[in-house]
Amino acid sequence: MSDLEFFLYLLPFVLALSWTLNFFKSKKALPNLPPGNVGLPFIGETFGYLKPHPATTIGKFMEEHIARFGKIYKANLFGEPTIVSADAGLNRFIFQNEGRMFESSYPSSIDGILGKWSMLVLNGDIHRDMRNISLNFLSHSRLKYHLIKEVERNTLLVLNTWQENSCFSAQDEAKKFTFNVMAMQILSLDHGEAETEHLKKEYINFMKGVSRTAILEFIERKMVEKLKKMKSDGSENMEEDDLLGWVLKHSSLSTEQILDLILSLLFAGHETSSVSIALAIFFLEGSPAAVQQLREEHLMIARAKQQSAEKELNWEDYKKMEFTQCVISETLRLGNVVRFLHRKALKDVRYKGYDIPCGWKVLPVLATVHLDSAFYDQPHLFNPWRWQQVPFKAKVVKDMKLGHIPS
Ligand code: HEM
Repeated sequence: MSDLEFFLYLLPFVLALSWTLNFFKSKKALPNLPPGNVGLPFIGETFGYLKPHPATTIGKFMEEHIARFGKIYKANLFGEPTIVSADAGLNRFIFQNEGRMFESSYPSSIDGILGKWSMLVLNGDIHRDMRNISLNFLSHSRLKYHLIKEVERNTLLVLNTWQENSCFSAQDEAKKFTFNVMAMQILSLDHGEAETEHLKKEYINFMKGVSRTAILEFIERKMVEKLKKMKSDGSENMEEDDLLGWVLKHSSLSTEQILDLILSLLFAGHETSSVSIALAIFFLEGSPAAVQQLREEHLMIARAKQQSAEKELNWEDYKKMEFTQCVISETLRLGNVVRFLHRKALKDVRYKGYDIPCGWKVLPVLATVHLDSAFYDQPHLFNPWRWQQVPFKAKVVKDMKLGHIPS
């Protein structure tokens, strides 16, 4: 056996021993860890935790663990000692102490997929800068006057391809719509253009896990084109018509940083929104009364538009869509597009008598709160009207203070 083979043979044992020693060391120093299973080093209970289950349930693993250990328990997940929080109060405490006691800590595989400069994996000043750039681009006035029109235009494009009484996949249609909106906002690529189709093809390959090189090359090509245009037209005259233009004009990010930012925004915006739209269609199919009320709300706005000079939807129309907003909130609550987040404790933290040791992984689970009957009456029921009731709204505000985060 060569030295290298011997080393590789021993490595898992050394790591397992060091993990176990660390675990017991932290346990000794901090005696009041929440109850739970530690499981095997590395693998622990990760497979059970990640086992697929319907989005409208919390899954068997979570049910059994909460029944056995309560809403805060320890486990060995993603190769690390972990505190799982299905507790609304602790979840809120974690989000309120972001950057002070806890920080984002996604598995390193995310860096490989979205890039090391993706906002999801960054912390500290650079995270703040990237977030400011994105938020400044998505300013209130941009949302009000620009995005709303783009959303309407792209919705009509998709709807006009539907034939009466024909079948279609809600998920495919939702993906088409969100991709077109994102491609326009980020890179000014319009629906149906050859380049948009090219980007779509590269994005599908990227999502299949083929490689991120091709899509990054595409984005970089667009960046070079834009830079050339900025030079010839003078950057001060350039319209910030898309996120790429905005970033080039207003930030000093490196090429690598810009590429990761653009790719992760395309991913973050497209995957979440398309699943949410598909889920809304799925939930609405089971609720004819909600469809009827939505139809009435929209017909009322459409009729008023017929009398007005401006035919396109505007911010005032959007604000009138109160029941639509209830449907969106209920879809996000019941659909649980993002089930849980990854965080890490930056220091030893004590919460309700439990110790969370510095360096431990912490997983605030959103789905358990969304489906908790303490907060939502008949939580498995799609009931958009619950968001209308004044006492319910007041209860959510009170619950927020206690720790509930509404969708
Ligand atoms: C229904 C749609 C959406 C859902 C359910 C959703 C959900 C989430 C959640 C739960 C997080 C927090 C992740 C964490 O802190 O660990 C997040 C972060 C983020 N989302 Fe979304 N999102 C949606 C739409 C979008 C859209 C349309 C965009 C972009 C245009 C976007 C861009 C981002 C970015 C950049 C972050 C990271 C922010 C940061 O780290 O500061 N998301 N999203």
